[in-house]
Formats: sequence, C-alpha cells, structure tokens
Amino acid sequence: MSKNIVVAIDGYSSCGKSTLAKALAKKLNFIYIDSGAMYRAVTLFFLRHNIDLKHQESVIDALSKIQIDFQTSETQTLITLNSEDVSKEIRQMPVADKVSTVSAIKDVRIEMVKQQQRMGRSGNIVMDGRDIGTVVFPNADLKLFMTADPQIRAERRYNELISKGEKVNMEDIFENLAKRDYQDTTREESPLIQAVDAVVLDNSHIDETQQLEFAIRYIKPLLSKK
Ligand code: DC
Repeated sequence: MSKNIVVAIDGYSSCGKSTLAKALAKKLNFIYIDSGAMYRAVTLFFLRHNIDLKHQESVIDALSKIQIDFQTSETQTLITLNSEDVSKEIRQMPVADKVSTVSAIKDVRIEMVKQQQRMGRSGNIVMDGRDIGTVVFPNADLKLFMTADPQIRAERRYNELISKGEKVNMEDIFENLAKRDYQDTTREESPLIQAVDAVVLDNSHIDETQQLEFAIRYIKPLLSKK
C-alpha cells in the first residue's frame, strides 16, 4: 500500500500559509488541515466554559470534552467544535486575544498533535501551522517554511481587514504582528523554528500564483514516485 503524502507548511503569522495550503490542496485534491484553527477552537471552548488555564486538571478535563472536525466542500472548509460550526467565531477578537496563551499550554499541544497525526493518516494532506514540520510530522514528504518582510505582511493584513470593512490602523497591526512573532518563536513548548530540511519560501515579492508554482515544483517529484 502506498504511503500518504504529507506537506507541512510552517511560518510566521500573516505570511499567507493558509492561502498557499488551500490552493495546493485544491490543485492536488489533498485534504487541507488548518492547525491554527484547531488551537482557536480549543480557545473558544475554554472561553465559553471559563476554564482556568492555570489549573491542569480542568484543562485536561476540558480537552477530553472537545471534538474538532473539518468539513470541506467545493467552496469552503468549515471547522466544527462538538458538531457546531465555529468557523466565524474563532476569527473574532476574544479568541484572537487568548489563542497565543492557550496554544502555549503543554497539555493542549499534546492533545492537538495527537489529533493532527490521526488526521494525517486519513489521506494525502497539506497542514499549516507553526510546528508541523518539526513536531507533528517530522517525516513530512515536503516541508515549506514561509516568511515575508514584516512591513509587507503588515500591509497585506491591513488591506485584508480594511476590505472587510474593519477600522484598523497600520501601526497597531505592525505591533500585533511583531508581538505574535515574538510569542511564537520564544515560547517554551514547540516554538516556531525552521526545520533543518525545510525549503524556505519568502513571498515578499511574489504573488499567489508564483508561490503555488514554487510549491508544485517540489511536490511533483513526490507524486510521480507514488
Ligand atoms: O495560524 P493562526 O494565526 O490561526 O494560529 C492561531 C494561533 O495558534 C497562533 O497564536 C499560533 C498558534 N499555533 C500554534 O501554536 N501551533 C500551530 N501548529 C498552529 C497555530
């Protein structure tokens, strides 16, 4: 039996990881898993149930009550938390404010990694996040590490939020990104680091089509080996 192909995409916040991962999954007919959305769903559950993050037993008990699934259709991927579609709510401010803290908790990471590895056995997948090529799938067939100039990332994020009608200012966005980069790269549990065998994709000056072509160039040889 041939082995599933796993493509791991890691990198900084607002680097376009999910844009690339979704485009790749669509083109190759792979399953797309947004691991950041899983940490967001856990955060939402903890907020709704007022879980004391410093109380390990409460955290472990809450984790045992969480079932996260993805439902992919032609047009979108939905994430469900105990069968409820929470795709929109996990992108809102209360979750965004707390997710860095929740994703730094060791027991949370242990449970999510377990679930992510299980998902990886269900077919060919593209998974994006911070520790996919280092912790979740250290033997991934292809590891991409995405990066881009912080100023360009902030501008992209700014334009995206403005186009959604949100009132934001550039300075706040730049600071928020810098803070998230710092938290992601310096935390004790599974910090964001480039896997030694990862291919770096700096998309500061290339567009979505070009980054897709870049990734496909590395994936094609894997497909022909199957
Ligand atoms: O990719 P994102 O912004 O939706 O991720 C939300 C948070 O989850 C962010 O604080 C980083 C964290 N995260 C993580 O620690 N490990 C992952 N594999 C994916 C995301």
